[in-house]
Amino acid sequence: MTPIGIHDLELATTHHVLSLTTLAEANGTDPDKYRLGIGQDEMSMPAPDEDIVTMGAAAALPLLERNGIEGIRTLLVATESGLDQSKAAGVWIHQLLGLPAGVRTVELKQACYSATAALQAAVGILSRSPQEKVLVIAADVARYELDSPGEPTQGAGAVAMLVSANPALVEIEPVSGVHTADVDDFWRPNDSSTAVVDGALSIRAYLDALTGAWDDLAAQGGPDLGSIERIVYHQPFTKMAKKAQQRLARHAGGEIAADGLETGSVYNRRLGNTYAASLYASLAALLDHEQDLAGKRVGLFSYGSGSVSEFLTGIVAPGYADSARARRVLEVLDARVPLEVAEYRELHATELPSGVDVQTPRVTKAPFRFTGIQGRARQYERTSG
Ligand code: CAA
Repeated sequence: MTPIGIHDLELATTHHVLSLTTLAEANGTDPDKYRLGIGQDEMSMPAPDEDIVTMGAAAALPLLERNGIEGIRTLLVATESGLDQSKAAGVWIHQLLGLPAGVRTVELKQACYSATAALQAAVGILSRSPQEKVLVIAADVARYELDSPGEPTQGAGAVAMLVSANPALVEIEPVSGVHTADVDDFWRPNDSSTAVVDGALSIRAYLDALTGAWDDLAAQGGPDLGSIERIVYHQPFTKMAKKAQQRLARHAGGEIAADGLETGSVYNRRLGNTYAASLYASLAALLDHEQDLAGKRVGLFSYGSGSVSEFLTGIVAPGYADSARARRVLEVLDARVPLEVAEYRELHATELPSGVDVQTPRVTKAPFRFTGIQGRARQYERTSG
């Protein structure tokens, strides 16, 4: 069987960042609660001219520059932060990237899980048409109400993945474990720009979904825990990966090396929650910070509240390590402009007025910007950046 999987991947985030120490000092919380208790240092925050389209296109642009557009016939955008009830965000991204008309473009939604559905759909398409390539983009802005328990677990970012036959990074193995359960742990009603969440229930639901997906993987004839070198997890906050790993080791009755928890959390600690992109930001961090994974099996646990989860595995390709990628991600993270708490709160509270034309202020230095709304339609441009 032709190996199919992630050939190349790139991460993008926002113009702004809020340090969680700054937030803790402003709201009278011990900064260690955020740093150690939930395992977060910073959270990305979009400027008014940034959204999932600008981040998603920014993540995908270098992939196209490195690999060309030849063979791309499918563009899948996975997000919880949909911008329109009808139009797929990928259609704007398709135009911004200058992709040809001969592309099928669609948006996938199931909270933070949808990027994994997109990746599996890509693998399915390529099993039939291995000469093609699929561009998968996961992009989200995680927003909770100001002063709520969820506030320090916000964030924003995008991961773009080029999926192909004979991939240079990770081959996705054919067997995976899946799990669906109707649970009201986290959702976002149509009239709300922030999520509704029951924090304690969401943690329990995540851990139950993990064991459910693991049991299904075992029932499908998946690999033993002992043959998985590292596991990366969906990370609403990085402490969640630790809780997950402990639960899985107890449930499956085995040891899992703890090393991957730290390396797989390097980017997530600084991005905050990126919903659909979170698991793949963790995979990027693992590949960028461990040099010895060629030929080894990695596990990926994808969780989307509500809930749908999947435990899949992949084999890391020889020659996957690329120090330039790690350097690029650090530059992107370091380039973010820090916000004071008052500025963050004002930005958070700003909502676009409904039904009128709007021009956004020019803030982002990213290659694409959201310029505003005309005749109720969102407008974008490529900048010189
Ligand atoms: N020093 C060190 N640690 C401290 C501390 C201090 N001074 N003070 C508290 N802590 C620790 C606590 O002991 C606790 O650790 P454990 O979980 O290991 O017991 C941790 O910090 C958090 O403390 P609390 O439980 O008191 O925190 P909280 O009530 O303020 O809320 C939260 C935490 C539930 C994660 C909340 O931020 C939240 O609701 N976040 C959004 C929901 C979420 O992310 N859920 C995750 C699963 S759902 C999912 O994965 C989908 C998704 O992306 C949303």
